[in-house]
Amino acid sequence: MATDHAIGIDIGGTGIKGAVVDLGTGELVGDRFKVRTPEGGRPADILRATDELLAGIADESDGTKLPLGLCFPAVVKHGRTLSAANVSDEWIGLAAEELFENELGREIHFINDADAAGYAESRYGAAVGAEGLVILTTLGTGIGSAFLYDGVLVPNTELGHLEIDGVDAEHRAAYSAMERESLSWTQWAERLQRYYAHVEFLFSPDLFVVGGGVSKHHEHFLPLLDLKTPIVPAVHRNNAGILGAASLATR
Ligand code: BGC
Repeated sequence: MATDHAIGIDIGGTGIKGAVVDLGTGELVGDRFKVRTPEGGRPADILRATDELLAGIADESDGTKLPLGLCFPAVVKHGRTLSAANVSDEWIGLAAEELFENELGREIHFINDADAAGYAESRYGAAVGAEGLVILTTLGTGIGSAFLYDGVLVPNTELGHLEIDGVDAEHRAAYSAMERESLSWTQWAERLQRYYAHVEFLFSPDLFVVGGGVSKHHEHFLPLLDLKTPIVPAVHRNNAGILGAASLATR
């Protein structure tokens, strides 16, 4: 396997998925592997599941292990997970990068999942060459955010937790809220309108990119939004975390 390959693993609230990535093209090499996130989302269980997933991924290049990047739904600073939305509280303050490196027996790079997705879109997707401020949001179990200024990532922005109308924004506007409350596309779009208009007012971005699996159905909700900023669907959707984690692993 070529040296411009790396492994990306995206740890989420429901599944852990990973693959080898060609860093030149931003394409997955071979299969994408997936295991279920263990109930409770505790570090030791997620570590075991990640190890299991890795075993399935062909990861050697001339006998040398490929670089490995992991992304995760929390604030990640200097390898430490500092928050835990939608996973076990045991992650708060955990030296996650060190723990995973010791247990997996290799160097890894641990980052926030939305930052990984944003980086992937800026390097290989909807925001390639975009100037100024790009804000990527992922709409899933929570809302993740990534800021890229002229392609440079400013990590850990956590815009899913803006308080809007007295409520944590992701609680009302994440895709999980639509599912939980059986909202129609129109009803959900009203909440997204409130959310994106607020973010737009605060940061005046040049481009919004909307990721997460639901962005596949963008034609049902993006045209209902009335914003000054262009808003486009992500290109890589559910693979963006894998791509971004792999490409940031080598930096
Ligand atoms: C977390 C973020 C994460 C986002 C998407 C939020 O609840 O706080 O760190 O990026 O969900 O998974």
